Amino acid sequence: MKKIIIAIDGPAAAGKSTTAKLVAEKLNYLHIDTGAMYRALTYKILREGIDPENETAVIEALKNSKVDLIKEENRIKVFLDNKDVSENIRSIDVTNAVSAISSYKKVREMMVDIQRRISKEGGVVLEGRDIGTVVVPNAELKIFMIAGIETRAKRRQKELSEKGLFIDYNKIVNEIIERDNKDSKRKESPLRKADDAIVLDTSNLSIEQQVNFIVKKALEIIEN
Ligand code: DC
Repeated sequence: MKKIIIAIDGPAAAGKSTTAKLVAEKLNYLHIDTGAMYRALTYKILREGIDPENETAVIEALKNSKVDLIKEENRIKVFLDNKDVSENIRSIDVTNAVSAISSYKKVREMMVDIQRRISKEGGVVLEGRDIGTVVVPNAELKIFMIAGIETRAKRRQKELSEKGLFIDYNKIVNEIIERDNKDSKRKESPLRKADDAIVLDTSNLSIEQQVNFIVKKALEIIEN
């Protein structure tokens, strides 16, 4: 059976990760969370006390870093220098600094290189900001996932509260807007819908509906 590449892009907290993971499970594909890779490097920069705005220092740290996505028990885990950092990379500090780190050309080149290498055989669902435009512009199926700011902020608030973090709603709204601004206004591979991407507005959809929509589109391509 043909193994295609599915690219899912969109702004922060639009539901990309949850959806991509379930789509990959249904198709028996590999889920590649590219945001997790930028987060892993950001985690290291913060841990080492490097200023995220200091591009030279960030690039220097990057040269001595190893970021891997490894599948364990049906879950993709993020390894930084051979240590599992899957939980650490979700912290608020990392979230606030990741847009600066991911705006550097050298950082993007290294990450995109890895992403292309792991997806070249097909059978993958990649999610991020520049997947359909830069990483795999030849992907057979491209989805641009969006949702209203209220939906996204509520989802993020719920996600955080499940981890025992109770953050003010307005603070979350501001964080999401600020990150989207930085990610879509940066010079290198900004967040942008690919011309041939299908827009999927998830504001009023359940996770199951989102997943089914993408799986149906994928099967139409695979079976043709
Ligand atoms: O999807 P996420 O929230 O985990 O992504 C974290 C950050 O990483 C996001 O704010 C911008 C950056 N990113 C990127 O620049 N390119 C990607 N393909 C994925 C994420």
